[in-house]
Amino acid sequence: MQISPSILSADFANLETELARIANADWAHVDVMDGHFVPNLTLGLPIVEALARVSPIPLDCHLMIEDPDRWAPMYAEAGGASVTFHIEAARDPRTLAKNLRGLGARAGMAIKPNTPFAPYEDLLPDLDMVLVMTVEPGFGGQSFMADQMPKVAQVREAVRRHGGEIWVQVDGGVSAKTIEECAEAGADVFVAGSAVYGAEDAAAAVDQLRALATA
Ligand code: DX5
Ligand code: ZN
Repeated sequence: MQISPSILSADFANLETELARIANADWAHVDVMDGHFVPNLTLGLPIVEALARVSPIPLDCHLMIEDPDRWAPMYAEAGGASVTFHIEAARDPRTLAKNLRGLGARAGMAIKPNTPFAPYEDLLPDLDMVLVMTVEPGFGGQSFMADQMPKVAQVREAVRRHGGEIWVQVDGGVSAKTIEECAEAGADVFVAGSAVYGAEDAAAAVDQLRALATA
């Protein structure tokens, strides 16, 4: 069970300090939004490069961008240890996933709430992680969509059939209230933005989430 706090809810004027607050987490989740694939705009390659230089933990880059076939490999080169693209935006996801792995990154595929998983199941051999979104991507602090739990279970079942070590990540509205149902459905990597950075003691929030997910 791994926790990946989203720095989208961190203080953008002090990112190095904000990363130090979650040094006990497994990953730092970096939400890259381009203002096209999603209406919001956050940060891009130069900042990911800078974060990779100072982060005590590996970067889990979630790319909510158009044309990931072109841009995602550059996030692996910039220091993203895990790079997740959206299947809705990818033209040639198999080649893209292979490229990411070729650059030494873990390759992740993200699916929005209204996107079914089944048509993409045959991509599993080329993936290290499937991200099931539990909010519409674009903003932190939204309400958890419990109706995505059957999809999490479906992905977990497909991963089990396929064999090998593929992680199942959930992202959006994950908190002490919702993390247990995510774990029960089969998730093993949990992104949490406001639940971690909204807490007085972010490291304690990480430990609490991990304990709940493991219980
Ligand atoms: C939403 C982002 C999430 C977001 C999660 O588009 O992908 O990573 O930061 O924030 P919370 O945990 O506050 O829902
Ligand atoms: Zn995210």
